Amino acid sequence: MKKEYSNVRGTIDFSEREALIYEYLREKSLKFFKLYQYQQLILPLLEEESLFIKGVGQGTDIVQGQMMKIEGKSIVLRPEATAQIVRHYLQHRLDKKNNFYKFFYIGPMFRGERPQKGRLRQFNHIGAEAVGSNSFYLDAEIIKLALDIVNAAGIEKKELQINSLGCAQDKKKSAKKIKNDLAKDKKKLCSNCQKRLERNPLRVLDCKLPSCRKVAVNLELDKSHLCLDCRQHFENLLTLLDQLEVTYNYQPNLVRGLDYYTNTVFEITSSQLGAQDALGAGGRYNNLFHRLGAIEVPAVGFALGVERMILALDHFTKPKEIPSVFIAKAGVLEREVFFLSAGLRRQGIASNFDFCGKSLKAQMRYAQKTGAELVVILGEKEFNKKEVILRDMKNSKQETVKLEELAARIRVASRE
Ligand code: HAM
Repeated sequence: MKKEYSNVRGTIDFSEREALIYEYLREKSLKFFKLYQYQQLILPLLEEESLFIKGVGQGTDIVQGQMMKIEGKSIVLRPEATAQIVRHYLQHRLDKKNNFYKFFYIGPMFRGERPQKGRLRQFNHIGAEAVGSNSFYLDAEIIKLALDIVNAAGIEKKELQINSLGCAQDKKKSAKKIKNDLAKDKKKLCSNCQKRLERNPLRVLDCKLPSCRKVAVNLELDKSHLCLDCRQHFENLLTLLDQLEVTYNYQPNLVRGLDYYTNTVFEITSSQLGAQDALGAGGRYNNLFHRLGAIEVPAVGFALGVERMILALDHFTKPKEIPSVFIAKAGVLEREVFFLSAGLRRQGIASNFDFCGKSLKAQMRYAQKTGAELVVILGEKEFNKKEVILRDMKNSKQETVKLEELAARIRVASRE
């Protein structure tokens, strides 16, 4: 394939099917964002590189090699939106206006990863961030909101994995334990993880290499690194999830690939996805504001990966929308078809017709191929009597309908 006819590696074109699912997911999530009262932020795709170095963390995979940088500038295409929302909050001193906000966003993110199924260089997030409270009720709301969207999308096989990293002090404690416990197996780790073990031991748990996983799986991690407050926060959250009848797997090895997390971390995984099995993920990031050199503000959020959800929706069928017809014409009735279509659209009926001079037979074939369930056939004889033929493509039955009754008849027929 000629280069100029190929898309960039790690990007995908959304054709009709993907675009339909994308819109469907957007609609479902907008409904829940309204129900839960989250307000939308639409932020730029470009940000200062330093935001993510400080926010996401110098030692993370994102900062180490995945940032898509504009050549000669300190600007990157955003790899994620959590740090960006914190930047927005700080820039506009939102703390001076209110002490609590609930935001949502839908849009593309960019990471220069090695492309594979479910791992792209440009992908979309549907995300939410609740800023200004450390309440475990808010953790529960965020998790429930993410699950409500995934459920409403119709993704059946999914599981919630959950853990608590604890506060900054607790994280230091578990980092020390991981470093000590893995010291004897250091040589079995990949060269990257050997470095991580020195600089950022928690990162070792996030390595996807089977050899490192084999070592990490032997670590005996539990809740003992958690201080009293953090343990209570986590226990309260789990009790709340039980009461909401949300099932979860407690995964003491779940750490997530971004450094800003504290306390609750979670992933929604699906066995339908293969190696890249996270449909979405999130957690609490009580230290992110501080990492950016500012005030301390507790916050929690999530982001769902749109392309992964599209992969999981392999049996997606288009939901029935407004009534629709294809208008086929026998003979030279271009003007009449054009205005009939315009009239139907005015009455809220979707319509389409041939612009290419096809024969009646070819028009019917086209209608069939594009999945039209109803076809209006316009013939000169009928049209002179202000009538058309309405054909039901499912059972091949047809009837003659008066033009003035057409819209009402289409509405009834499309419900039948
Ligand atoms: P993340 O785990 O990096 O978290 O991304 C969230 C989701 O985006 C993943 O679970 C996955 O579904 C999807 N995703 C990530 N990378 C790719 C990729 N290269 N190709 C396709 N899909 C991908 C975050 O970004 C955090 N900002 C989430 C968050 C919000 N935490 C708190 N608030």
